[in-house]
Amino acid sequence: VGRGWHRAYGGPHAEVEALRAAAGRARGATAYVSLEPCSTVGKTGACTDALAAAGVAEVVWAATDPDRGNGGRAARALGRAGIATRGPSLPEPGAAALEPLARRLSPRRPWVVLKWAASLDGRVSPARGEGARLSGERAARFVHDLRGRCEAVAVGVGTVLADDPLLTCRASSGPALGRQPLRVVFDSRLRTPRDAAVVASASPHAPVLLAHAGAPASRVSSLSRPGVSFLCAPARGGAVDVAAVLRALRERGVARLLVEGGSRLSASFVRAGLADQVFAILTPLLLGGSDAPPALDGTGIASLSDAPRLSSLRTSRLGQDLLVRAYV
Ligand SMILES: NC(=O)c1ccc[n+]([C@@H]2O[C@H](COP(=O)([O-])OP(=O)(O)OC[C@H]3O[C@@H](n4cnc5c(N)ncnc54)[C@H](OP(=O)(O)O)[C@@H]3O)[C@@H](O)[C@H]2O)c1
Repeated sequence: VGRGWHRAYGGPHAEVEALRAAAGRARGATAYVSLEPCSTVGKTGACTDALAAAGVAEVVWAATDPDRGNGGRAARALGRAGIATRGPSLPEPGAAALEPLARRLSPRRPWVVLKWAASLDGRVSPARGEGARLSGERAARFVHDLRGRCEAVAVGVGTVLADDPLLTCRASSGPALGRQPLRVVFDSRLRTPRDAAVVASASPHAPVLLAHAGAPASRVSSLSRPGVSFLCAPARGGAVDVAAVLRALRERGVARLLVEGGSRLSASFVRAGLADQVFAILTPLLLGGSDAPPALDGTGIASLSDAPRLSSLRTSRLGQDLLVRAYV
């Protein structure tokens, strides 16, 4: 009688959408939901209240709510309203599929996605570092969509200096349309130029966060403008401590961070064990050259047995390019 899904962060949950679609025909019905319904009033009302108000007779869910302390609350709330419940009813392999969600809901840090576009031999830019995009149009559209699905995107100052990227979401359709993630630059000494595209385009609607490690006040004032904010984080190994920035981003409501390079920043996340997922766009080019930056730069992993293993590898085509996604 009705179906629904959670379209956007902060928007009505799937249950509310489905009950709206059912328009009164949910009375006496069974509701099947993927995730245990929420029973607390957050950004939206409690779904358990909406289900009770609609007169639903039974609620079946696939997986327990992995959010802090919420698991099992729905059964109690629905039981008090006289509604039968069944859940979690998902077999083990299915529960594993929800693990990214469980980790995204971690109160400690955002889910971290590393994304890069590389030649087939793993270089993310030619040796002389022209700022030209390696991948094709389809891949570019995919990246804009991905940005719109994340609350924040990040680059290192090396990328700002080399490529002067805008980093905004320019999706022309779909759920990412009109969304602007927070753009974060890891920049210990605030070397980002005042006229860099990322700073010049900052506004309250398209905000920018410059994460530094105690840069001089003169640099802070030179880069200050509406939409630009600063985070003074601790230094670790001469760079901005990624774990500290992640904690600060989580406190600002960032559940998913897209790290768009360059080589050194991505490597820092891997080395710190703080990368959850990789989106590698492989483009049919051979660049070579020991001076050409690889996807991951820095010290690297000394022994094969210490290398992070990727799982759930999936591949697809993006026009001329190949997209490889995996969990770390
Ligand atoms: N094809 C792609 O997908 C893609 C994407 C992005 C970039 N690129 C290419 O990558 C190259 C730039 O890479 P890059 O390695 O030079 O620059 P990067 O990773 O963008 O930035 C590195 C700089 O960021 C600062 N930083 C602050 N905190 C850091 C931390 N925790 N870990 C690492 N760096 C931190 C450091 O400078 P301070 O010490 O001054 O803070 C560091 O030198 C360019 O050639 C660019 O074209 C390619």
